[in-house]
Amino acid sequence: MAADLSGAPAAPAAAAAGTPAFLAACQRQPTSHRPVWIMRQAGRYLPEYRALRARVDFEALTRTPELAAEVTLQPLRRFPLDAAILFSDIMTPLQGMGVEITFAPGPVVRDPIRSEAQIEALPQLVPQRDVPFVLKTVELVRAGLPQGVPLIGFAGAPFTLLCYLVCGKPSKEFAPARSFLYQQPQAAQRLLTHLADAMAQYLAAQAAAGAQALMLFESWAGLLGPREYRQFALPAVRRVMASLRAAGVPLIYYMNQGSALTSAVADLDADVIGVDWRSDLAQVRKELGAGKAVQGNLDPAALFAAPQELRRHVDAVLAAAGDAPGHIFNLGHGIWPDTDPDAVARLVDYVHERRQS
Ligand code: CP3
Repeated sequence: MAADLSGAPAAPAAAAAGTPAFLAACQRQPTSHRPVWIMRQAGRYLPEYRALRARVDFEALTRTPELAAEVTLQPLRRFPLDAAILFSDIMTPLQGMGVEITFAPGPVVRDPIRSEAQIEALPQLVPQRDVPFVLKTVELVRAGLPQGVPLIGFAGAPFTLLCYLVCGKPSKEFAPARSFLYQQPQAAQRLLTHLADAMAQYLAAQAAAGAQALMLFESWAGLLGPREYRQFALPAVRRVMASLRAAGVPLIYYMNQGSALTSAVADLDADVIGVDWRSDLAQVRKELGAGKAVQGNLDPAALFAAPQELRRHVDAVLAAAGDAPGHIFNLGHGIWPDTDPDAVARLVDYVHERRQS
């Protein structure tokens, strides 16, 4: 499929009969029910994940295709979710590029990247050589998924990866990463371009292995003001997306704390924008225009509400999303590890009960 050089959103093609609801919604096609999946749906809130983690460390899980596939499928056995997401981490391909990273549980980079020389020394990612276990996991998951449940492949967006690489560990403010943009803007650009090319390769390989949609996580978009976002983060995302159009699968860009940045992504060549809970979906849809689907955006904390209350919060998200096709229900960010799985069951069932008009 050729990239649309005009920048105008392509007219949605009719969804083929039998297209899974998640993929149809990505293309802004009507669906018989509102598709729903949960960010971080494979993970610590599930007792079966914790049982496996008691025996195997996180990295070993990500590097062992049989185990990573098992963890990917765990939430699908409990809940009738409309999509699966590959079990891996945004830092996994960077480990494949030789960056030493441990998880505690957030990623810790042994030698944070702060110099031109370190950036120059970063190799390009060759997925088949450097992360073959991820591609094998994609194949195993596809073989094990229920009929009609698509698999989402993912990567970290370049700026979010830069935050971890430069800062070296999770942080509230990511001060070293943000000051790096101002102190060494050219080095930052070079790093972002390198990461964009690596993630484009990585995601294309996931699609070739069987991933049916591709998602970029911009978890730290909210650290940037609109000017810096447009100068640093956005061009790198455009570069990844432009390269991925040829993969022929829906492209999703999730922005955390992106309410000040919505207009900046209105003409991004992505099919779906993932939205955190701080924004009103009606407002976001207006700002994005008809050419984008949206995904989100229930507050993960809402899963702690009493069942009747949870329904009210779901209703509010559905009302804000409106009846126009092109909404995928999700949380506004990852599910919290202390969430009751029964609340997730109630959420998924309730979203499905509410038919789409
Ligand atoms: O269902 C899924 O989404 C699971 C696959 C997945 C993981 N990480 C597994 C994981 C995905 C899609 C990610 C993405 C990821 N990783 C992001 C982007 C999404 C987001 O939440 O913003 C980010 C920023 C990371 C970096 C990262 N990795 C952090 C901050 C942490 C620790 C905190 C946490 O949320 O768990 C990790 C470790 C990690 N990645 C765990 C899991 C299940 C916990 C590790 C463990 O079991 O000890």
